[in-house]
Amino acid sequence: MKKVITYGSFDLFHEGHYKLLERAKALGDYLIVGVTTEQYDESRGKLNVVDSIIDRIENVKKTGFADKIIVEDHVGQKVEDIQKYSVDIFAIGSDWVGTFDYLKDFCEVVYLERTKEISSTLIRKQKYPIIKMGIVGTGRIAARFIPEAKFVSGIEVISAYNPHKESAKQFGERFGLQTGWENFEEFLSPLDAVYVASLHQTHYEYAKEALNHGKHVLCEKPMALSKAKAQELFAAAKQNNCLLLEAIKTAYCPGFGQLLGVARSGVIGSIVDVEACFTRIADPDSRECKDPKYGGGFLEFGNHTMLPIFKLLGTQYKSVNFDIIRDEKGIDLYTKASFSFEKGMALSKTGVAVKSEGQLIIAGTKGYILAESPWWLTKSFEVRFEDSSIKEQYTARFLGDGLRYELSEFVSLIHNGERKSYKFTEEESIAMASVIEEFMKERDKIIVLK
Ligand code: CTP
Repeated sequence: MKKVITYGSFDLFHEGHYKLLERAKALGDYLIVGVTTEQYDESRGKLNVVDSIIDRIENVKKTGFADKIIVEDHVGQKVEDIQKYSVDIFAIGSDWVGTFDYLKDFCEVVYLERTKEISSTLIRKQKYPIIKMGIVGTGRIAARFIPEAKFVSGIEVISAYNPHKESAKQFGERFGLQTGWENFEEFLSPLDAVYVASLHQTHYEYAKEALNHGKHVLCEKPMALSKAKAQELFAAAKQNNCLLLEAIKTAYCPGFGQLLGVARSGVIGSIVDVEACFTRIADPDSRECKDPKYGGGFLEFGNHTMLPIFKLLGTQYKSVNFDIIRDEKGIDLYTKASFSFEKGMALSKTGVAVKSEGQLIIAGTKGYILAESPWWLTKSFEVRFEDSSIKEQYTARFLGDGLRYELSEFVSLIHNGERKSYKFTEEESIAMASVIEEFMKERDKIIVLK
Protein backbone atom coordinates (compact mmCIF):
# COMPACT_ATOMS: atom_id res chain seq x y z
CA MET A 1 0.00 0.00 0.00
CA LYS A 2 1.41 3.37 -1.05
CA LYS A 3 1.00 6.06 1.61
CA VAL A 4 0.92 9.76 0.77
CA ILE A 5 1.04 12.67 3.21
CA THR A 6 0.29 16.37 2.76
CA TYR A 7 -0.09 19.39 5.05
CA GLY A 8 -1.82 22.75 5.04
CA SER A 9 -3.92 25.28 6.93
CA PHE A 10 -6.88 24.75 4.59
CA ASP A 11 -8.41 28.00 5.75
CA LEU A 12 -11.58 29.17 3.95
CA PHE A 13 -11.53 25.88 2.04
CA HIS A 14 -11.37 26.46 -1.70
CA GLU A 15 -11.02 24.75 -5.07
CA GLY A 16 -7.21 24.88 -4.91
CA HIS A 17 -7.29 22.84 -1.71
CA TYR A 18 -9.78 20.36 -3.20
CA LYS A 19 -7.70 19.79 -6.32
CA LEU A 20 -4.51 19.44 -4.32
CA LEU A 21 -6.06 16.75 -2.10
CA GLU A 22 -7.57 14.98 -5.11
CA ARG A 23 -4.19 14.74 -6.85
CA ALA A 24 -2.34 13.86 -3.66
CA LYS A 25 -4.72 10.97 -3.09
CA ALA A 26 -4.27 9.81 -6.71
CA LEU A 27 -0.52 9.46 -6.10
CA GLY A 28 -1.09 6.44 -3.85
CA ASP A 29 -3.65 4.30 -1.97
CA TYR A 30 -3.84 6.02 1.40
CA LEU A 31 -3.80 9.77 2.10
CA ILE A 32 -2.83 11.39 5.40
CA VAL A 33 -3.61 15.09 5.73
CA GLY A 34 -1.96 17.24 8.39
CA VAL A 35 -3.97 20.30 9.39
CA THR A 36 -2.09 23.06 11.24
CA THR A 37 -3.12 24.36 14.66
CA GLU A 38 -3.74 28.06 15.25
CA GLN A 39 -0.67 28.26 17.49
CA TYR A 40 1.53 26.64 14.88
CA ASP A 41 0.23 28.98 12.19
CA GLU A 42 0.86 31.88 14.52
CA SER A 43 4.41 30.74 15.15
CA ARG A 44 5.01 30.63 11.37
CA GLY A 45 3.80 34.20 11.12
CA LYS A 46 0.29 33.36 9.81
CA LEU A 47 -1.72 35.59 12.11
CA ASN A 48 -4.84 35.73 10.05
CA VAL A 49 -6.36 32.27 9.83
CA VAL A 50 -10.13 32.69 9.94
CA ASP A 51 -11.63 29.20 10.36
CA SER A 52 -11.15 27.25 13.55
CA ILE A 53 -9.14 24.03 13.38
CA ILE A 54 -12.35 22.04 13.85
CA ASP A 55 -13.90 23.67 10.77
CA ARG A 56 -10.73 23.24 8.75
CA ILE A 57 -10.52 19.54 9.63
CA GLU A 58 -14.22 19.13 8.86
CA ASN A 59 -13.74 20.68 5.40
CA VAL A 60 -10.84 18.37 4.60
CA LYS A 61 -12.93 15.42 5.78
CA LYS A 62 -15.87 16.40 3.58
CA THR A 63 -13.78 15.98 0.41
CA GLY A 64 -13.64 12.25 1.12
CA PHE A 65 -10.00 12.10 -0.03
CA ALA A 66 -8.37 11.85 3.38
CA ASP A 67 -8.02 8.41 4.94
CA LYS A 68 -6.52 9.91 8.06
CA ILE A 69 -6.40 13.47 9.35
CA ILE A 70 -3.75 14.53 11.82
CA VAL A 71 -2.91 17.82 13.51
CA GLU A 72 0.39 19.55 12.81
CA ASP A 73 1.54 21.65 15.73
CA HIS A 74 5.32 21.95 15.66
CA VAL A 75 8.38 22.39 13.52
CA GLY A 76 10.05 19.11 12.69
CA GLN A 77 6.83 17.14 12.89
CA LYS A 78 6.87 16.21 9.20
CA VAL A 79 9.96 14.03 9.58
CA GLU A 80 8.43 12.33 12.61
CA ASP A 81 5.11 11.70 10.83
CA ILE A 82 6.76 10.30 7.72
CA GLN A 83 8.63 7.74 9.81
CA LYS A 84 5.77 7.02 12.17
CA TYR A 85 3.25 6.32 9.41
CA SER A 86 5.76 4.73 6.97
CA VAL A 87 4.94 7.33 4.35
CA ASP A 88 6.11 6.79 0.74
CA ILE A 89 5.30 10.18 -0.77
CA PHE A 90 5.21 13.69 0.65
CA ALA A 91 3.08 15.92 -1.61
CA ILE A 92 2.62 19.70 -1.43
CA GLY A 93 1.72 22.60 -3.75
CA SER A 94 4.22 24.11 -6.12
CA ASP A 95 4.40 27.32 -4.08
CA TRP A 96 6.71 25.31 -1.83
CA VAL A 97 9.13 24.03 -4.52
CA GLY A 98 12.52 23.35 -2.94
CA THR A 99 11.42 24.03 0.66
CA PHE A 100 10.79 20.39 1.47
CA ASP A 101 13.66 18.79 -0.46
CA TYR A 102 15.19 17.88 2.91
CA LEU A 103 12.46 15.26 3.28
CA LYS A 104 13.94 13.33 0.32
CA ASP A 105 16.12 11.47 2.82
CA PHE A 106 12.92 9.92 4.21
CA CYS A 107 10.52 9.54 1.25
CA GLU A 108 9.71 10.74 -2.25
CA VAL A 109 8.83 14.46 -2.44
CA VAL A 110 6.32 15.60 -5.05
CA TYR A 111 5.42 19.23 -5.75
CA LEU A 112 1.99 19.46 -7.35
CA GLU A 113 1.10 22.36 -9.65
CA ARG A 114 -0.82 24.95 -7.65
CA THR A 115 -4.29 25.90 -8.91
CA LYS A 116 -4.03 29.35 -10.38
CA GLU A 117 -5.69 32.50 -9.11
CA ILE A 118 -7.07 31.18 -5.87
CA SER A 119 -5.75 31.20 -2.32
CA SER A 120 -6.98 31.68 1.22
CA THR A 121 -5.21 35.02 1.25
CA LEU A 122 -7.15 36.15 -1.82
CA ILE A 123 -10.49 35.04 -0.36
CA ARG A 124 -9.70 36.79 2.91
CA LYS A 125 -9.04 39.99 0.96
CA GLN A 126 -12.34 39.68 -0.92
CA LYS A 127 -14.29 38.76 2.16
CA TYR A 128 -12.81 41.47 4.33
CA PRO A 129 -11.91 44.74 2.68
CA ILE A 130 -8.54 46.08 3.76
CA ILE A 131 -8.81 48.29 6.85
CA LYS A 132 -7.24 51.65 6.14
CA MET A 133 -5.36 52.87 9.19
CA GLY A 134 -3.70 56.16 10.08
CA ILE A 135 -1.12 56.74 12.81
CA VAL A 136 -1.42 59.64 15.21
CA GLY A 137 1.99 60.61 16.50
CA THR A 138 5.28 60.04 14.77
CA GLY A 139 7.63 59.15 17.61
CA ARG A 140 9.52 56.03 18.68
CA ILE A 141 6.60 53.65 19.08
CA ALA A 142 5.01 54.73 15.79
CA ALA A 143 8.27 53.97 13.99
CA ARG A 144 8.34 50.49 15.52
CA PHE A 145 4.70 49.87 14.69
CA ILE A 146 4.93 50.36 10.90
CA PRO A 147 7.28 47.43 10.12
CA GLU A 148 5.25 45.21 12.49
CA ALA A 149 2.00 46.12 10.71
CA LYS A 150 3.39 44.59 7.52
CA PHE A 151 3.07 41.16 9.12
CA VAL A 152 -0.65 41.52 9.70
CA SER A 153 -2.84 41.09 6.69
CA GLY A 154 -6.16 42.82 6.28
CA ILE A 155 -4.83 46.20 7.36
CA GLU A 156 -2.74 48.85 5.73
CA VAL A 157 -1.21 51.89 7.39
CA ILE A 158 -1.67 54.67 4.86
CA SER A 159 -1.15 57.97 6.63
CA ALA A 160 0.30 59.76 9.63
CA TYR A 161 -0.68 62.79 11.64
CA ASN A 162 1.32 65.11 13.83
CA PRO A 163 0.38 68.75 14.45
CA HIS A 164 4.07 69.50 13.93
CA LYS A 165 3.91 69.28 10.19
CA GLU A 166 7.65 68.97 9.66
CA SER A 167 7.89 65.90 11.91
CA ALA A 168 4.92 64.37 10.13
CA LYS A 169 6.49 65.05 6.74
CA GLN A 170 9.80 63.44 7.68
CA PHE A 171 8.04 60.41 9.14
CA GLY A 172 5.82 60.12 6.05
CA GLU A 173 8.82 60.20 3.74
CA ARG A 174 10.63 57.59 5.80
CA PHE A 175 7.73 55.12 5.76
CA GLY A 176 5.90 56.06 2.55
CA LEU A 177 2.80 57.47 4.29
CA GLN A 178 0.49 60.30 3.36
CA THR A 179 0.90 63.44 5.48
CA GLY A 180 0.32 67.18 5.10
CA TRP A 181 -3.20 67.21 6.54
CA GLU A 182 -4.71 70.60 7.26
CA ASN A 183 -6.29 69.34 10.44
CA PHE A 184 -7.14 66.17 12.35
CA GLU A 185 -10.58 65.85 10.78
CA GLU A 186 -9.13 65.86 7.29
CA PHE A 187 -6.65 63.17 8.33
CA LEU A 188 -9.48 61.02 9.72
CA SER A 189 -11.75 61.25 6.75
CA PRO A 190 -10.35 58.49 4.45
CA LEU A 191 -9.65 56.10 7.35
CA ASP A 192 -11.39 53.11 8.92
CA ALA A 193 -9.15 53.02 11.97
CA VAL A 194 -6.47 54.92 13.84
CA TYR A 195 -3.55 53.95 16.01
CA VAL A 196 -3.04 56.63 18.64
CA ALA A 197 0.67 56.74 19.46
CA SER A 198 1.09 60.37 20.39
CA LEU A 199 2.15 61.87 23.74
CA HIS A 200 0.42 60.31 26.76
CA GLN A 201 -1.59 63.41 27.61
CA THR A 202 -3.05 63.59 24.08
CA HIS A 203 -4.29 59.98 23.79
CA TYR A 204 -7.71 60.71 25.21
CA GLU A 205 -8.52 63.69 22.95
CA TYR A 206 -7.38 62.00 19.77
CA ALA A 207 -9.11 58.74 20.60
CA LYS A 208 -12.34 60.55 21.44
CA GLU A 209 -12.39 62.53 18.24
CA ALA A 210 -11.60 59.49 16.13
CA LEU A 211 -14.36 57.46 17.80
CA ASN A 212 -16.83 60.28 17.33
CA HIS A 213 -15.99 60.22 13.64
CA GLY A 214 -16.82 56.51 13.55
CA LYS A 215 -13.25 55.20 13.41
CA HIS A 216 -11.99 52.13 15.26
CA VAL A 217 -9.23 53.01 17.70
CA LEU A 218 -6.15 51.17 18.86
CA CYS A 219 -4.78 53.44 21.57
CA GLU A 220 -1.34 53.35 23.15
CA LYS A 221 -1.16 53.09 26.90
CA PRO A 222 -2.04 54.90 29.06
CA MET A 223 -5.24 55.39 27.09
CA ALA A 224 -6.68 57.80 29.66
CA LEU A 225 -5.35 59.41 32.82
CA SER A 226 -8.58 59.25 34.80
CA LYS A 227 -11.39 56.80 35.34
CA ALA A 228 -14.01 59.21 34.01
CA LYS A 229 -12.10 59.77 30.79
CA ALA A 230 -11.64 56.05 30.20
CA GLN A 231 -15.35 55.51 30.76
CA GLU A 232 -16.13 58.35 28.40
CA LEU A 233 -14.03 56.78 25.66
CA PHE A 234 -15.76 53.41 25.99
CA ALA A 235 -19.12 55.16 25.92
CA ALA A 236 -18.09 56.97 22.71
CA ALA A 237 -16.96 53.67 21.21
CA LYS A 238 -20.32 52.10 22.02
CA GLN A 239 -22.30 55.03 20.70
CA ASN A 240 -20.44 54.95 17.41
CA ASN A 241 -20.31 51.15 17.19
CA CYS A 242 -16.53 51.25 17.07
CA LEU A 243 -13.85 49.05 18.53
CA LEU A 244 -11.64 50.65 21.18
CA LEU A 245 -8.63 48.63 22.27
CA GLU A 246 -5.83 49.73 24.57
CA ALA A 247 -2.47 48.75 23.13
CA ILE A 248 -0.71 46.98 25.98
CA LYS A 249 1.24 44.60 23.84
CA THR A 250 1.92 42.02 26.54
CA ALA A 251 -1.81 41.33 26.82
CA TYR A 252 -1.94 40.03 23.25
CA CYS A 253 1.32 38.02 23.18
CA PRO A 254 0.94 34.24 22.93
CA GLY A 255 3.25 33.49 25.85
CA PHE A 256 1.43 35.80 28.24
CA GLY A 257 -1.88 34.11 27.39
CA GLN A 258 -0.27 30.77 28.17
CA LEU A 259 1.15 32.07 31.45
CA LEU A 260 -2.29 33.24 32.56
CA GLY A 261 -3.73 29.85 31.64
CA VAL A 262 -1.11 28.01 33.70
CA ALA A 263 -1.49 30.41 36.64
CA ARG A 264 -5.26 29.88 36.65
CA SER A 265 -5.05 26.13 36.21
CA GLY A 266 -4.59 25.44 39.91
CA VAL A 267 -1.06 24.11 39.48
CA ILE A 268 0.28 26.72 41.93
CA GLY A 269 -2.85 26.53 44.09
CA SER A 270 -4.73 29.74 44.88
CA ILE A 271 -3.02 32.90 43.74
CA VAL A 272 -2.09 35.08 46.69
CA ASP A 273 0.48 37.56 45.46
CA VAL A 274 1.52 39.05 42.11
CA GLU A 275 4.70 41.05 41.89
CA ALA A 276 5.70 42.71 38.62
CA CYS A 277 8.68 44.93 37.95
CA PHE A 278 9.53 46.98 34.86
CA THR A 279 12.33 49.52 34.99
CA ARG A 280 14.61 51.16 32.49
CA ILE A 281 17.36 53.71 32.94
CA ALA A 282 16.00 56.09 30.36
CA ASP A 283 17.88 58.71 28.41
CA PRO A 284 17.88 61.87 30.58
CA ASP A 285 16.83 63.85 27.51
CA SER A 286 13.86 61.61 26.76
CA ARG A 287 10.26 62.67 27.22
CA GLU A 288 9.80 60.32 30.20
CA CYS A 289 12.69 61.96 32.08
CA LYS A 290 11.83 65.54 31.23
CA ASP A 291 8.10 65.93 31.70
CA PRO A 292 7.18 65.89 35.41
CA LYS A 293 3.47 65.75 34.70
CA TYR A 294 3.23 63.07 32.04
CA GLY A 295 6.67 61.44 32.19
CA GLY A 296 8.15 59.23 34.90
CA GLY A 297 8.15 55.54 35.68
CA PHE A 298 4.54 54.80 36.53
CA LEU A 299 2.95 56.43 33.51
CA GLU A 300 5.55 54.77 31.33
CA PHE A 301 5.43 51.21 32.64
CA GLY A 302 2.55 51.02 35.12
CA ASN A 303 0.09 49.64 32.57
CA HIS A 304 2.44 46.74 31.98
CA THR A 305 2.95 45.92 35.64
CA MET A 306 -0.76 46.28 36.45
CA LEU A 307 -1.68 43.88 33.65
CA PRO A 308 -0.83 40.54 35.35
CA ILE A 309 -2.13 41.94 38.64
CA PHE A 310 -5.60 42.75 37.31
CA LYS A 311 -5.71 39.68 35.09
CA LEU A 312 -5.03 37.35 38.00
CA LEU A 313 -6.54 39.10 41.00
CA GLY A 314 -9.35 41.00 39.30
CA THR A 315 -9.95 44.74 39.03
CA GLN A 316 -11.71 45.14 42.40
CA TYR A 317 -8.73 46.10 44.54
CA LYS A 318 -9.54 47.28 48.05
CA SER A 319 -6.75 49.83 48.22
CA VAL A 320 -3.60 50.98 46.51
CA ASN A 321 -0.66 52.73 48.16
CA PHE A 322 2.21 54.41 46.42
CA ASP A 323 5.82 54.89 47.44
CA ILE A 324 7.31 57.38 45.07
CA ILE A 325 10.78 58.79 44.61
CA ARG A 326 10.77 62.02 42.64
CA ASP A 327 13.70 64.03 41.32
CA GLU A 328 14.13 67.79 41.55
CA LYS A 329 12.03 68.25 38.40
CA GLY A 330 9.24 66.21 39.90
CA ILE A 331 9.68 63.10 37.75
CA ASP A 332 8.88 59.84 39.55
CA LEU A 333 12.14 58.01 39.17
CA TYR A 334 10.91 54.92 40.94
CA THR A 335 7.44 53.98 42.13
CA LYS A 336 6.09 51.07 44.10
CA ALA A 337 2.33 50.59 43.98
CA SER A 338 1.06 48.10 46.57
CA PHE A 339 -2.42 46.72 46.07
CA SER A 340 -4.58 44.89 48.47
CA PHE A 341 -7.40 42.63 47.32
CA GLU A 342 -10.06 40.63 49.11
CA LYS A 343 -8.03 37.45 48.66
CA GLY A 344 -4.55 38.62 47.84
CA MET A 345 -2.02 41.35 47.34
CA ALA A 346 0.17 42.73 44.62
CA LEU A 347 3.15 44.93 44.01
CA SER A 348 4.06 46.94 40.93
CA LYS A 349 7.56 48.40 40.61
CA THR A 350 8.35 50.83 37.83
CA GLY A 351 11.20 53.22 37.20
CA VAL A 352 12.98 55.35 34.66
CA ALA A 353 16.13 56.06 36.66
CA VAL A 354 16.43 53.04 38.95
CA LYS A 355 17.30 49.58 37.72
CA SER A 356 15.92 46.45 39.27
CA GLU A 357 15.30 42.88 38.16
CA GLY A 358 12.42 42.99 35.67
CA GLN A 359 10.64 39.89 36.78
CA LEU A 360 7.11 38.70 37.36
CA ILE A 361 6.39 36.40 40.30
CA ILE A 362 2.99 34.88 40.87
CA ALA A 363 2.84 33.27 44.29
CA GLY A 364 0.31 30.61 45.11
CA THR A 365 -0.53 28.24 47.94
CA LYS A 366 1.17 25.29 46.21
CA GLY A 367 3.96 26.93 44.23
CA TYR A 368 4.88 29.95 42.18
CA ILE A 369 5.46 31.11 38.64
CA LEU A 370 8.58 33.02 37.75
CA ALA A 371 8.83 34.87 34.45
CA GLU A 372 12.21 36.45 34.11
CA SER A 373 13.03 39.71 32.42
CA PRO A 374 11.69 40.61 29.92
CA TRP A 375 8.53 38.97 31.26
CA TRP A 376 6.44 41.50 29.31
CA LEU A 377 7.41 39.65 26.11
CA THR A 378 6.76 36.35 27.89
CA LYS A 379 9.07 34.18 25.85
CA SER A 380 9.43 31.78 28.76
CA PHE A 381 8.40 31.14 32.34
CA GLU A 382 8.82 28.51 35.01
CA VAL A 383 6.56 26.91 37.58
CA ARG A 384 8.42 26.15 40.80
CA PHE A 385 7.55 24.39 44.04
CA GLU A 386 8.76 23.88 47.61
CA ASP A 387 10.82 21.00 46.26
CA SER A 388 13.24 23.05 44.21
CA SER A 389 14.22 20.06 42.09
CA ILE A 390 10.80 20.18 40.41
CA LYS A 391 10.56 22.88 37.77
CA GLU A 392 8.17 23.05 34.88
CA GLN A 393 9.49 25.16 32.05
CA TYR A 394 7.40 26.79 29.37
CA THR A 395 8.60 28.58 26.28
CA ALA A 396 6.55 30.48 23.76
CA ARG A 397 7.22 31.87 20.35
CA PHE A 398 7.44 35.64 20.18
CA LEU A 399 7.88 37.26 16.80
CA GLY A 400 9.56 40.56 16.02
CA ASP A 401 8.68 43.40 18.29
CA GLY A 402 5.42 41.81 19.38
CA LEU A 403 3.27 44.73 18.26
CA ARG A 404 1.90 42.52 15.50
CA TYR A 405 -0.10 40.54 18.07
CA GLU A 406 -2.13 43.49 19.32
CA LEU A 407 -2.76 44.63 15.76
CA SER A 408 -3.74 41.14 14.68
CA GLU A 409 -6.28 41.00 17.54
CA PHE A 410 -7.59 44.43 16.51
CA VAL A 411 -8.06 43.34 12.89
CA SER A 412 -9.68 40.04 13.72
CA LEU A 413 -12.17 41.69 16.11
CA ILE A 414 -13.16 44.20 13.42
CA HIS A 415 -13.53 41.44 10.82
CA ASN A 416 -15.73 39.43 13.14
CA GLY A 417 -17.85 42.43 14.05
CA GLU A 418 -16.78 42.14 17.68
CA ARG A 419 -16.24 45.12 19.95
CA LYS A 420 -14.58 43.43 22.91
CA SER A 421 -11.41 41.48 23.49
CA TYR A 422 -11.13 39.06 26.39
CA LYS A 423 -7.37 39.57 26.20
CA PHE A 424 -7.75 43.09 27.54
CA THR A 425 -11.16 44.23 28.62
CA GLU A 426 -12.96 47.52 29.08
CA GLU A 427 -13.13 46.88 32.81
CA GLU A 428 -9.35 46.37 32.98
CA SER A 429 -8.68 49.52 30.94
CA ILE A 430 -10.93 51.58 33.23
CA ALA A 431 -9.37 50.12 36.39
CA MET A 432 -5.90 51.04 35.13
CA ALA A 433 -6.97 54.60 34.33
CA SER A 434 -8.41 54.81 37.80
CA VAL A 435 -5.12 53.75 39.43
CA ILE A 436 -3.21 56.21 37.26
CA GLU A 437 -5.55 58.97 38.44
CA GLU A 438 -4.89 58.02 42.08
CA PHE A 439 -1.17 57.84 41.41
CA MET A 440 -1.02 61.32 39.87
CA LYS A 441 -2.86 62.77 42.87
CA GLU A 442 -0.54 61.05 45.35
CA ARG A 443 2.55 61.95 43.36
CA ASP A 444 1.69 65.61 43.32
CA LYS A 445 1.35 65.66 47.11
CA ILE A 446 5.02 64.82 47.49
CA ILE A 447 7.09 67.91 47.94
CA VAL A 448 10.00 68.14 45.61
CA LEU A 449 13.15 69.63 47.08
CA LYS A 450 14.55 72.38 44.92
N1 CTP B 1 -2.83 24.98 -2.80
C1 CTP B 1 -2.95 24.72 -4.15
N2 CTP B 1 -3.52 25.67 -4.95
C2 CTP B 1 -3.94 26.85 -4.44
C3 CTP B 1 -3.82 27.11 -3.06
C4 CTP B 1 -3.25 26.14 -2.25
O1 CTP B 1 -2.57 23.68 -4.64
N3 CTP B 1 -4.46 27.73 -5.27
C5 CTP B 1 -2.18 23.98 -1.95
C6 CTP B 1 -0.93 24.50 -1.24
O2 CTP B 1 0.18 24.51 -2.08
C7 CTP B 1 -0.81 23.50 -0.11
C8 CTP B 1 -2.28 23.17 0.23
O3 CTP B 1 -3.04 23.61 -0.91
O4 CTP B 1 -0.20 22.32 -0.59
C9 CTP B 1 -2.73 23.88 1.47
O5 CTP B 1 -2.36 25.24 1.33
P1 CTP B 1 -2.71 26.42 2.31
O6 CTP B 1 -1.47 27.12 2.67
O7 CTP B 1 -3.59 25.95 3.38
O8 CTP B 1 -3.61 27.34 1.30
P2 CTP B 1 -3.36 28.75 0.65
O9 CTP B 1 -4.59 29.10 -0.12
O10 CTP B 1 -2.06 28.76 -0.11
O11 CTP B 1 -3.27 29.66 1.96
P3 CTP B 1 -2.63 31.11 2.22
O12 CTP B 1 -3.13 32.00 1.15
O13 CTP B 1 -3.11 31.47 3.60
O14 CTP B 1 -1.13 30.92 2.18
